[in-house]
Amino acid sequence: MPHTNPFTFGALALDEAFTDRESELRELAADMRNGQDVLVYAPRRYGKSSLVLRASQEAIREGLLVAYCDLMKTPTKERLAAALAKTVYRDLSGAVGGTLERAANLFRGLRVVPTMEVDPADASLRFTFHAARRRADIDDTIEALLALPGEIAADRGRRVVLVFDEFQEIVSLDPVFPNLLRAVFQEQPEVAHVYLGSKRHVLERIFEDRNEPFWRSAKRLEIGPIEPAAFARFLRARFDATEKGIDDEALDRVLDAAGGHPYGTQELAYFLWELVPRGHFARLGDVETAVEQALRSEHNHFAKLWDDAPHAQRLVMLALADEPTRSPYAAAYADAHDLPPKPALQRAIGALVTKEIAARDLEDVYRIVEPFFADWLRREQAYQPSAASA
Ligand SMILES: Nc1ncnc2c1ncn2[C@@H]1O[C@H](COP(=O)(O)OP(=O)(O)O)[C@@H](O)[C@H]1O
Ligand SMILES: [Mg+2]
Repeated sequence: MPHTNPFTFGALALDEAFTDRESELRELAADMRNGQDVLVYAPRRYGKSSLVLRASQEAIREGLLVAYCDLMKTPTKERLAAALAKTVYRDLSGAVGGTLERAANLFRGLRVVPTMEVDPADASLRFTFHAARRRADIDDTIEALLALPGEIAADRGRRVVLVFDEFQEIVSLDPVFPNLLRAVFQEQPEVAHVYLGSKRHVLERIFEDRNEPFWRSAKRLEIGPIEPAAFARFLRARFDATEKGIDDEALDRVLDAAGGHPYGTQELAYFLWELVPRGHFARLGDVETAVEQALRSEHNHFAKLWDDAPHAQRLVMLALADEPTRSPYAAAYADAHDLPPKPALQRAIGALVTKEIAARDLEDVYRIVEPFFADWLRREQAYQPSAASA
């Protein structure tokens, strides 16, 4: 076995890299089976995509058909149409390999017909939609593509799941798209629609406003950090499997520093693993070094969050880094942390939540959610260079 780092951050957590989330997996798998629409909500890098991919793999094993479309990768309507065509053809239609004829058949009725070519790399089909002369034509085409999963489910007598990652982006594609999508989806009750999203304020506007088409149309599944006990087992097992170890103190410190944040924990574990020679244990001191490295690698990102924030937001960031709280508006908290008066404070908290720097967790506690940012804030604050030493 190659001696490579068993921790990954950034890419999807697949197979061995994936841990826990058992109840969420069970719930999602059942929703997919039942054709229940569901909104999977969590801040960025909490593991939404990894979780839904895992649930999809399970659904596919049970015989369901799963289409997946990442709206972060479709900044134009033509690209959205291409992504939909690709997943419908590849994942739903039952076609094997790149047979142009079958694809042409499937998409014959579209107002804008895609150009199709075989990708020489993997013999899959690639679809390109060229900008239509009439704006309405591409909308009509997308509507027809969205209807296909329902038709295929009926034709093939199979359950179909349609996953939209980063669903909140639909609004920036076209403010009226929620109406268009909802109208189609309402006609396909047997298809389970799974919406993933991170920007809470945008999602709330889509799903929680009674004047909006998606109002109460999906069950909510909010995912939080990963349980310390589950992460502890995972970290220990991954160290053990690669002929290294981690002692209890070090393990506790890793869990504490990353606060169960999936990405943050894997990032820290990645640096830590690199520091430990084969056949040795990771110790507390190693974790401190790994934290330094993680902070250094995120420094530019954190410095920008700080630089871009107006004064009131900076005060709130420092307060939450220092002391997460259930009641940020309490007078005692405001006094202790020098916070601005209420209207300004509300605006600052609102802005930090919108930027996903801070959030209210599942226990209603406001805290900094960006992993390691709280550590960074505390350190930057403590370090005041003196002019004399310059
Ligand atoms: N179940 C999990 N077990 C272990 N690590 C995870 C898990 N889910 C996510 N991660 C870590 O978090 C990172 C981000 O996961 P991702 O699914 O892309 O999050 P999101 O879609 O919420 O932004 C992954 O690269 C991985 O390091
Ligand atoms: Mg994602």
